[in-house]
Amino acid sequence: MKVKIHTLFQYLLDTTEAEPEAFVGFSLSQSPKLGDFLADLDPGLSLDWNGGSFRGLPELRDRVIGQAGLDGLCSPDDVLVTAGAAEANYLAFMQLVQKGDEVIVERPGWPQAEVLAEAVGATLRIIDRDESDGWTLPIDAVEAAITPKTRLVFLSNPNNPTGALMGEADLARLARAADRVGAWLIVDEVYAGLEWQGARAPSIAGIYPRGITTGSVSKALGLQGLRTGWMICRDETLIRDAFILRENASEIMNILGEVIAEIALRPERLAPAMEAARTAGRATLAKLDAYVAGQPKLSWTPPQAGLIGLARLAPGIDSDTFARRLLADPYRTFLLPGSAYHRPNHIRLGVGGGQAANLDVGLDRMARLLADW
Ligand SMILES: Cc1ncc(COP(=O)(O)O)c(C=O)c1O
Repeated sequence: MKVKIHTLFQYLLDTTEAEPEAFVGFSLSQSPKLGDFLADLDPGLSLDWNGGSFRGLPELRDRVIGQAGLDGLCSPDDVLVTAGAAEANYLAFMQLVQKGDEVIVERPGWPQAEVLAEAVGATLRIIDRDESDGWTLPIDAVEAAITPKTRLVFLSNPNNPTGALMGEADLARLARAADRVGAWLIVDEVYAGLEWQGARAPSIAGIYPRGITTGSVSKALGLQGLRTGWMICRDETLIRDAFILRENASEIMNILGEVIAEIALRPERLAPAMEAARTAGRATLAKLDAYVAGQPKLSWTPPQAGLIGLARLAPGIDSDTFARRLLADPYRTFLLPGSAYHRPNHIRLGVGGGQAANLDVGLDRMARLLADW
């Protein structure tokens, strides 16, 4: 098995040395500093692994259940702490899917399942989200694509990159359709918690026994560098299979990531951190929405949740050329081209990153490039 690079990662690789002065592409909240946690850290903490469980720190797993609203539906034993949602997706995918299986993914969507499916020789069934329908996932199309050969359905909710949000009724429909053939359903919830319209969607792990919720502290809490996330699933064998695979890669989680994530998820810290992230996100998104409305060469459906959305470029502007020119002198501004999501006429706009993103400067420079195009 060889995993090939996907377009999104290729673009990040191509641009890591560009040193942009502004970002219109940040997908996470402003990151806290280590100092914000020092008062709650025990200097006597052993830097051996947690020693308690191959699933991760028990108290962290308890917090994970709490923040996902799964108290009473799932238990801490249903949680595996992982190196981010990315590792959770990887471990579940690789232990579930084999050559010849069918895997259903959404487009635009998080590209991880697509490259893994190709690597293992699975057959991809692609469900397109339609811009004219507000990027809503067409549940009918997913139902129609599910066959007895379907092994896994992989979705993100809120969707990366459009911020479209599914509610309980849609998730329950998907679970029923998957259940008819015994398929697994991964819902990547890495963007949960920053909903602008409607409530946070329930986690699939509480709805469907073969539902796998993946998430992390990376996005709303801005703690991406901790590399700490999770999978939640009521199937004991799946959790066990996942940590068996992990044992052959990185073996165990890093203790500092676990300890700091546990502190960050304590209710007395989590509630104000989420409130601050929502206040900042709402303000920057409102600014971005007004900006797009004032740009004749841009249009979009604003995200229902999260800090990123896809904006359409006027006909004739190719997203890859646009993003690369915007990154070069004199604009020096970063955003992701829609080509990373099979949408070459769109750009991914993001409003996270706090002050360091220099959003106002980035928006001005993008306006100049659009005007000159
Ligand atoms: C949908 C989605 N899943 C997973 C990830 C990886 O996140 P983590 O830092 O939790 O591994 C990202 C990061 O951008 C993402 O957008």
